[in-house]
Amino acid sequence: MGAIIKTEDEIARMRIAGRLTAEVLEMIEPHVQVGVTTGELDRICHEFITRQQQAIPAPLDYNGFPRSICTSINDVVCHGIPSNTKKLKNGDILNIDVTVIKDEYHGDSSIMVQVGNVAPHAQRLVEVTQECLYKALEIVKPGATLGDIGHVIAQHAHKSYYSVVREYCGHGIGKAFHEDPQILHYGDKGAGMVLERGMTFTIEPMINAGRRQTRLNQKDGWTVTTRDGRLSAQWEHTLGVTEDGCEIFTRRSNESL
Ligand code: MF3
Ligand code: CO
Ligand code: CO
Repeated sequence: MGAIIKTEDEIARMRIAGRLTAEVLEMIEPHVQVGVTTGELDRICHEFITRQQQAIPAPLDYNGFPRSICTSINDVVCHGIPSNTKKLKNGDILNIDVTVIKDEYHGDSSIMVQVGNVAPHAQRLVEVTQECLYKALEIVKPGATLGDIGHVIAQHAHKSYYSVVREYCGHGIGKAFHEDPQILHYGDKGAGMVLERGMTFTIEPMINAGRRQTRLNQKDGWTVTTRDGRLSAQWEHTLGVTEDGCEIFTRRSNESL
């Protein structure tokens, strides 16, 4: 397992892996259309990552995961498996989660995409979830704690009467896909590990419109859904703690972070 504080050379490699990850998301977003299958989105990303980027899609064969990206629709919280028969429908909300390995280092990021015309309540969930991520990114700096991150996310979600998923969390990242520490999306101000310059991790809040409880699909071993069948949204970035804040390795060009 990698050390918790990265060297300058490791940070430079994380920066490149992060940029490639962001570029995959920017490339795939316009392909999201009514009638397209999630299997097709997976195929396009796989080709782009392996041919264009000369990189490796980390999910493929990770603990037996069968595809190169995760696609999670509506009540799917995370780890949805792309399917050649699953067509996107008007009004769906879709999370696309991309993890790229380049020069041994990982970049991990996900976005929500709205398919056709999405109901206002679903749009609101997508927006508030992104705000949860952005508010967390704003407070990251040396001296802040992991509890501070969880606190700001949960506060913002609860203000809109949404709930925060607890079974899955953000994570340290580097040479390994998932490293210590765990980044919980709930917590108490001032609690937990103190952040230091050179730490690299993801923040990836999963926010539910209804209750926070989840269910793991026992047939495929991966797909996580909400227990109550209501909507869930997620956004994810990979970052490094800097002297006075953080550098978002997976920032996309349409983001003013
Ligand atoms: N990308 C997910 C994360 O944010 C993990 C996916 S694991 C997989 O941590 F095997 F489902 F790909
Ligand atoms: Co992640
Ligand atoms: Co991810």
